[in-house]
Amino acid sequence: MFPVLQITIILSMHKQAIGVFDSGIGGLTILRALRKALPHENFIYFGDTANVPYGGKSKAMVTRLATAVAQFLQTQQVKLIVVACNTASAQALPALSKSLSVPVMGVIAPGAQAAVSATKNHKIAVLGTQGTIESRAYVKAIKKHNKKLRVFQQACPLFVPLAEEGFAHKPAAELIAREYLAPVQKSGADTVILGCTHYPILKEMIARVLGRKISLVDSAETLAQAVKSFLKTHRMTAVAGRRGSLKLYASDDPQKFSRSAQKLLNEKVARATLKKLTL
Ligand code: DGL
Repeated sequence: MFPVLQITIILSMHKQAIGVFDSGIGGLTILRALRKALPHENFIYFGDTANVPYGGKSKAMVTRLATAVAQFLQTQQVKLIVVACNTASAQALPALSKSLSVPVMGVIAPGAQAAVSATKNHKIAVLGTQGTIESRAYVKAIKKHNKKLRVFQQACPLFVPLAEEGFAHKPAAELIAREYLAPVQKSGADTVILGCTHYPILKEMIARVLGRKISLVDSAETLAQAVKSFLKTHRMTAVAGRRGSLKLYASDDPQKFSRSAQKLLNEKVARATLKKLTL
């Protein structure tokens, strides 16, 4: 490649945004870590609020929805897409990598890595949506690190609506958590993966129910570091200077989505734009 052309491509990469998506507000827990680790990057976040939850949908449907969102992000000239949704990462990542021309990163491998580093008794429990648990994506990712690790799985389908409805601190949420988490406590795992990006919203309550001896891990920090090193390796990092911008899209009720985003990101955000998906 001619050096001038190469420099022009690198410079435009610096300005391009990183696309991030989830079925709803859950992926904002990932975006929060990304904004912290990469303050100069521009981000475009898409919450597929018209189709939340993804967790109980078939693999074919999740793949269809994730592809439609990712293709929209691709039209926004993003330089990288982060699938900030465990269900979509577990079920659609290979299809997305195949059909897109931009690089794609998911949340399963970073979450598994965080858990493998944290466990001391070699027993890990995974909490996730029905789709994530049935895919066994975490079990496979953990066993890749170490075949001898014991992995216990628990689907927690009601956690997503509780997080979406702002029920994180209500007694009803704790009652439900006690039901889901009793077998997790029985499993003897010393490390629990919050294998759905909505679950960190309920982290305080989950920690209270499980007790202090159990480490709760999620993908956010490890993924943010992986994105940082990916950008560096591929010379795609934004030039340091002003704080990067943030543009939000939602496929339904952008006002409600914007309010949740402001609260979760703890920063003032511009109102989300409504973007209906073409399936
Ligand atoms: N937050 C997503 C996940 O990490 C999706 C939850 C859902 O829509 O069911 O799995």
